[in-house]
Amino acid sequence: MDTTELTLRPVRPADRERTLEITKDVWEGRDYVPRVFDRWISDAGAEFQAAEIEGVVVGLQRLRPYAPGLIWYEGLRVASESRRRGIARAMLQAAIAEAHEQGFHEMRLATRDLPAIRLFESAGFKAVVEMKWWRGLRVEGGEPARIPEPAEARKLWPALQSSPGVELYAGIVPDMNGARDLSAEELERLAAGGLIRVGPERRGLFAGGARRRAARAADGASLRSRCRRLESRDGQPAPRAPGRGGSPGQRIRFRGCRT
Ligand SMILES: CC(C)(COP(=O)(O)OP(=O)(O)OC[C@H]1O[C@@H](n2cnc3c(N)ncnc32)[C@H](O)[C@@H]1OP(=O)(O)O)[C@@H](O)C(=O)NCCC(=O)NCCS
Repeated sequence: MDTTELTLRPVRPADRERTLEITKDVWEGRDYVPRVFDRWISDAGAEFQAAEIEGVVVGLQRLRPYAPGLIWYEGLRVASESRRRGIARAMLQAAIAEAHEQGFHEMRLATRDLPAIRLFESAGFKAVVEMKWWRGLRVEGGEPARIPEPAEARKLWPALQSSPGVELYAGIVPDMNGARDLSAEELERLAAGGLIRVGPERRGLFAGGARRRAARAADGASLRSRCRRLESRDGQPAPRAPGRGGSPGQRIRFRGCRT
């Protein structure tokens, strides 16, 4: 075992070509990261990070605050020639440490890839929702489901709260773009975006949206973890990282075989 130095820094426009290289074999060339690259590098509300070894980008990850106390982890990629050397684990540990330091009480993410699921579970994350994609045909003849006003949607919460569906989804909205807790406020927020439908005489209620992202999430697992429980592999607390907002050279040491 050798110790190699991994540096985390913000992704820059000049990393585009390397990002394309790293992602070209992911999901048979259908990785979404190239499509969101421009948006992610210009988004000051999140941290899109590159992991470098000796000046070469070997990995990517993004941390995005999306609700009070909650941070979404996404875009984890390690170059195929650099895999199985502990790079993803080291990046994740640094991300967790950073989230912890910034005061987020929970990090959440969604994935369906077995290697990633193994990594997250071994880092202390717990699967909370397993998503199935389903489609319901509208039954003709009845009154169509309507979009409620946000204030009306909010009032539905007391009745909904005890529904088995809420328990089935572990009390969260399985949104692959940031899973929030279900609450009166969340119903109101979803309704404001037109994402709630109420059936005739309130016999049914559903939240949804025809997003491609959700379709891709079929059979995916949504995972979450309480950061404070997490420790690094050797039982030491996860490494501390500087605060967010442009730490140009955060260094992490990780164990791996130098080739
Ligand atoms: C998933 C991915 C990020 C892992 O990167 P990596 O640097 O090779 O991972 P690490 O070497 O740090 O491995 C950490 C743990 O992940 C798991 N793991 C990684 N690759 C694995 C594989 N091919 N099969 C099974 N488990 C795997 C193991 O639990 C491993 O721990 P171990 O080495 O103690 O057994 C990388 O394979 C990748 O970029 N895949 C394509 C994109 C992707 O699936 N991203 C995740 C989306 S959320």
